[in-house]
Amino acid sequence: MMPSHVTLVEVGPRDGLQNEKQPVATAHKVELVHRLQAAGLREIEVTSYVSPKWVPQMADNAQVMAAIRRAPGVRLSVLVPNLKGLEAALAAPQRPDEVVVFGAASEAFSQRNINCSIAESIERFAPVVAAAHDAGLKVRGAISCALGCPYQGDVSADAVEDVVVRMKAIGVDHVGVADTIGVGTPGKVQAAMERALKHYPLVEVSGHFHDTYGQALANVYACLEMGVHTFDASVAGLGGCPYAKGATGNVATEDVVFMLHGLGIATGIDLDALVDAGAFISSVLGRAPVSRVARAVLAKREKAAA
Ligand code: HMG
Ligand code: MG
Repeated sequence: MMPSHVTLVEVGPRDGLQNEKQPVATAHKVELVHRLQAAGLREIEVTSYVSPKWVPQMADNAQVMAAIRRAPGVRLSVLVPNLKGLEAALAAPQRPDEVVVFGAASEAFSQRNINCSIAESIERFAPVVAAAHDAGLKVRGAISCALGCPYQGDVSADAVEDVVVRMKAIGVDHVGVADTIGVGTPGKVQAAMERALKHYPLVEVSGHFHDTYGQALANVYACLEMGVHTFDASVAGLGGCPYAKGATGNVATEDVVFMLHGLGIATGIDLDALVDAGAFISSVLGRAPVSRVARAVLAKREKAAA
């Protein structure tokens, strides 16, 4: 049942950097993407075409996309909350391969994050999905707060399934079960995943786990036991959502890669080069990587060099 290969979708450039208060230069964002490609990542979520008033850090979306020299086989994705975002993504000098619409399993979070109800968000996404398909793009749907909400508290598996069904009805190709605030534990994650898997095949379901409560790796493992083989992860453990206060970064890509390789599961990723990419962006941000694996590898290197 355990997969032999896992696809990691690197979300550090988007989920990781969207939350940074300090300005991050476009050139540094681009360099991060290049380093991630060099480390073997083949799916990278680069930026979002959202309102710059809501998320100022992503205002250079088109410039970042334009400057990326895409390596062979790499798929780039961007977040689009509405038609305006999709149109901007399509008009930019470099188009993405995939777009991500992002809804929520909690009404309160939907209002805070995208300023509309769950039902309104689906109405808004429907023409985005159709237009993205017309343009030849794949559409992923993120379901935020699938394991708990910072405003509403508990979120039921029924609420998750409700959004899964609505996303399927409008033609979303893939659903991501997202634990925005990192409160999910393995049993609850499996229960939420089961609901997604009732409507989508294994290959079109992924997990997106923030590590706020230290549960993210355990949650990835719980999904592997179900055969799920696609996960979002963020290099150096960067990340958070500006509209989910207190939420920390995603599960660190380095930590997931180390665990998967230890389990004999292939990822196509070179851990040393990945640690370098994480060290690069961490030094730009002026702090150490959050990833425990990255810290261990860097400490070992320092010792060897001494
Ligand atoms: P709104 O204010 O209701 O939108 O915001 P509006 O349609 O009324 O437009 C208001 C203004 O925004 C107008 O400009 C529009 O042109 C502009 P003005 O006339 O005032 O100058 N606007 C846009 N500008 C650029 N790109 C666009 C766009 N749309 C409208 N696409 C809206 C609604 C959805 C736009 C807003 O709430 C928004 O941008 N939200 C984004 C929030 C966000 O990015 N959150 C983080 C990403 S989600 C996440 O991190 C979770 C995830 O990681 C999974 C997980 O962990 O849970 C995916
Ligand atoms: Mg997230």
